[in-house]
Amino acid sequence: MAVGHRQQRSQGERECGVVAGGTPSMKDVAARAGVSLGTVSNALNKPHQVSGPTRDRVLAAIDALGFVRNESARQLRSGRSHTLAFVVLDAGNPFFTDVARGVEEVAEAQGRAVFLCNSAESSAREDSYLDILEQQRVEGVLLTPVHRPDQRIAQLRRHGIPVVVVDRDAGPDHCSVTVDDVRGGELAVTHLLEGGHERIAFVGGPLSIGQARDRLAGARLATASVGTPDPVVLETSALNVAEGRRAGERLVGLPASRRPTAAFCANDLLALGLLQQMVRMGRDVPGDLAIVGYDDIEFAEAATVSLTSVSQPRHMLGRTAAELLLAEARHDPEHVHQQLVFTPELMVRASTGAHPAR
Ligand code: RIB
Repeated sequence: MAVGHRQQRSQGERECGVVAGGTPSMKDVAARAGVSLGTVSNALNKPHQVSGPTRDRVLAAIDALGFVRNESARQLRSGRSHTLAFVVLDAGNPFFTDVARGVEEVAEAQGRAVFLCNSAESSAREDSYLDILEQQRVEGVLLTPVHRPDQRIAQLRRHGIPVVVVDRDAGPDHCSVTVDDVRGGELAVTHLLEGGHERIAFVGGPLSIGQARDRLAGARLATASVGTPDPVVLETSALNVAEGRRAGERLVGLPASRRPTAAFCANDLLALGLLQQMVRMGRDVPGDLAIVGYDDIEFAEAATVSLTSVSQPRHMLGRTAAELLLAEARHDPEHVHQQLVFTPELMVRASTGAHPAR
């Protein structure tokens, strides 16, 4: 058994342009195409400066040799990658993948790739990703923060990496795109109050996450405006389906006299988990419990009992955030930070359709 010997390249490998001894370089491409190194670089980076036949010769040489550009080397020379990053709270939540599609559309149109990073609602993971992205010299970062990371954002900006905050208002020192979550919570609970519900639960958390906190604040504005009791808060440890199911067990376990007849969930994943648990336990939605979610993800309408939900313009959020970030990445001295706030909309469906029987 041949151990440790470099396999001799066959005549065929040499003829098809496999470079003996290692990875083909731009120099090998130039030699094979019979052009200068500068022409190879222009053919790749400024094709409009190279004639068609010459560009074809260069591309044929690249293909024959199996040449791949060394992006890290290019970054070292230019000090900047052509890559954006989007750090999201929960990559398993379709809300963020819908936002990311909008980001990608804008980024790709301007020749950028997008790294998607998942903080999983953990500040430690978020910090770790931000460190890696800074070392990778990404061109800019879109961030849905776990908490208010002002210092961390300021440090990235001092190191020449702009940050746009997505889905959170981060104050006048940063560009941000968000939806008015307080208004969204108010819309959700006003709808339940108009349906005759007076004992309403809020399912969401941890309340250290701003989106959950703001949606609860809106819910409380709605109940206060009509003088009904504050929502019964069932704080969850995450904004996911499993926590929604656990909230369902807690709600059904309450004495009938104290059991809410409606629940507003801080996002659709919680609402879908709650809906699933109610069906599993033989309860009727909306008859025993009306449910409202938040995000209006694709699965909301497709659910067994289609979900009433507060809709966010996810795709537009992503596009707008990417446009703001690329503008800031041009380091235009005239750049002024913008805080753009979109208005949510309530999509009424079967999960709140029937008024309470009692
Ligand atoms: O990630 C938590 C929630 O905040 C998401 O469901 C979405 O609503 C975002 O705004």
